[in-house]
Amino acid sequence: MEENLSISNLSPLQVLQFYVDCGVDEVMGDEALDRTQIPEKIFSMPQAAPAGAPASAAAVAAAASPMTAPTSDVTGAIEAMEEARTLAAAANTLDELRAAIDSFKGLAIKRTATQMVFCDGNPKARVMFVGEAPGADEDRLGRPFVGVSGQLLDRMLGSIGLDREESAYISNVINWRPPGNRAPDDAEIALSLPFIRRHIELINPAVVVFVGGVSAKALLETSQGITRLRGKWTELSLPALTQPIPALAMFHPAYLLRSPQQKSLAWADLLSLKNKLRALGVIS
Ligand code: URA
Repeated sequence: MEENLSISNLSPLQVLQFYVDCGVDEVMGDEALDRTQIPEKIFSMPQAAPAGAPASAAAVAAAASPMTAPTSDVTGAIEAMEEARTLAAAANTLDELRAAIDSFKGLAIKRTATQMVFCDGNPKARVMFVGEAPGADEDRLGRPFVGVSGQLLDRMLGSIGLDREESAYISNVINWRPPGNRAPDDAEIALSLPFIRRHIELINPAVVVFVGGVSAKALLETSQGITRLRGKWTELSLPALTQPIPALAMFHPAYLLRSPQQKSLAWADLLSLKNKLRALGVIS
């Protein structure tokens, strides 16, 4: 007998399972959007800028409101960037920075995230790790790097005598989970940069470690990939700090889980970090 594959023959649970199997795992609004009725001009998303290039004003506008921002809404984009910079600069404590990020309305991903993911670890630690963006586990628990890649990060820290609670401080470039765990786009990164830069200033660590290419490229303002950036010591200069901070990029643990053959390079980077911390008197 021929199987009837019409969706109307499925139970609500089967329909839901069908959507999940198709990768539809986020509810973006209460009303379905008829994309055939949306004028192309309104819906068109900006062209992706080359990696490392500053995000265009139109891209920033779309990050603030991807469904409605016309690509010509340059004024709104400039205002959102200005607001991010002003809010970040005015924060003089971690609590004020957390509140500033929470109050910033310029990022549409805030609306689909469950909660803000701000930091974990010891704010007095001398080494700060900066990752990319929260995933599903982090979104649920409100702390960075608590999923499987976070467990690997913990083991990596442990291998050189660091401990998340005692001797490390952890945050991300982006504080809200991008829906469906997609990578953050250039505009979302641009709007988040003032906050993570201020975050690093407030912690003022002896060393900053960029965990993965997104973090390294964003904070070093380069288009070079992580394969080139990792393992080389560089410096991060921030306006409120009198001294640049020694900085090291390393592979993201999620990448190491997918490509375990690269773990030897990650191990070399961890040893380099350990040596630097010793040289700076952070560890004995
Ligand atoms: N990946 C990141 O970059 N950050 C997290 O917090 C979790 C996964």
